[in-house]
Amino acid sequence: MMRTQVGIVGAGPAGMMLAHLLGREGVESVVVEARSREYVQERVRAGVLEQGTCDLLEASGVGARMRREGLVHRGIELRFAGARHRIDLSGLTGGGTITIYPQGEVVKDLTDAHLAAGGQIYFSADEVSVHDFDRASPLIRFRAAGTPHELRCDFIAGCDGFHGVCRASLPVGALTLYERIYPFGWLGILAAVAPSSDELIYAHHARGFALHSMRSPVLTRLYLQCAPEEPLDAWSDARIWDELETRLASGDGGSLKRGPIVQKGVTGMRSFVAEPMRHGRLLLAGDAAHIVPPTGAKGLNLAVADVRVMARAIAAFARNGDSELIDRYSATCLRRVWQVQRFAWWMTAMLHRFEDASPFDYRRQMAELEYVASSRAAAQSLAENYVGLPFE
Ligand code: APR
Ligand code: PHB
Repeated sequence: MMRTQVGIVGAGPAGMMLAHLLGREGVESVVVEARSREYVQERVRAGVLEQGTCDLLEASGVGARMRREGLVHRGIELRFAGARHRIDLSGLTGGGTITIYPQGEVVKDLTDAHLAAGGQIYFSADEVSVHDFDRASPLIRFRAAGTPHELRCDFIAGCDGFHGVCRASLPVGALTLYERIYPFGWLGILAAVAPSSDELIYAHHARGFALHSMRSPVLTRLYLQCAPEEPLDAWSDARIWDELETRLASGDGGSLKRGPIVQKGVTGMRSFVAEPMRHGRLLLAGDAAHIVPPTGAKGLNLAVADVRVMARAIAAFARNGDSELIDRYSATCLRRVWQVQRFAWWMTAMLHRFEDASPFDYRRQMAELEYVASSRAAAQSLAENYVGLPFE
């Protein structure tokens, strides 16, 4: 029987940021991850870090490579009705910026730092189960390299994503679920070509939404709105590029640079919240507790915000048995979760084509875009949410 203070299920951004922050507070943890280290770091995921996420990485000693290799952006561009509208993120937020730095790189930096500090991580674990979280010493059972393990801890952190085991282990009736499934998905590609724009471009178009993002000066990330279960084999590379060119057209003749597509995939889209995020000694964080549509680039940043609260709460309890922050964990996280859900929903509703939109809905949507493009107050509201609301 192994013993530690915090048993963390999942070594994605939530799990590894938590392990790292706890370590800095002198709180011991053991991480149990279903996949291999390579798989977790290679997964193609998000790439936009809020100002607060960057500051936290730097303040906790793992921001060096992100500062060296990350692309700092001071604005984004909206395109609609053939016109371009730059949102001056920095000017509207007193200097706030976002940083383009792949999620897999964040996880790599956190994992390297945690292992170098003596952190314990079981990769490729299977048959993971969680028990006794309604008591003072919850238990994680798992197998690693064919050997069964039992891990007693003071707290279990459920950082195992939307399809994880922790939320699924809660008794019926323990959770209230809130969900909206969108009637579309995104077809995303990674292309080995220089970006066609220095900044991100969010395009509203009669044929559907498109997004131009990037991963590095030689790797471009692009998405186009499609059906939720769009068959990928219906999309040749040429068809993808043609559709992106059409939707991203800006009327000033700028063209979209093309190159080899090195990865493509279709993801569905939902808003989801499971309340509360604490059940006795089991605390949920990140995608295990909530999902946002990717339009606001918030998934990774919200996971980081959750575990920042959790690390402080557990550290306070470990220091002097004070459970006040633990008792407030769920309410504290959910205040931000719902603000971010609102923003991600708003960006999604404003920018996507809804098949069932009435003529009134369509004209109202165009008015929303016009308002954001023409009103400083409206643009400032987008900017402060996009750069990231202040941490509590
Ligand atoms: N046992 C152990 N580990 C598990 C289990 C399990 N039963 N189920 C899932 N996991 C692991 C997954 O392999 C993954 O590495 O938990 C981790 C969860 O990581 P994420 O899904 O990345 O979730 P999170 O850390 O909350 O980060 C949210 O990741 O998926 C993106 O879009 C999402 O950007 C957001 C961010
Ligand atoms: C990405 O670069 O993957 C990305 C950027 C912005 C978004 C979503 C995804 O809103």
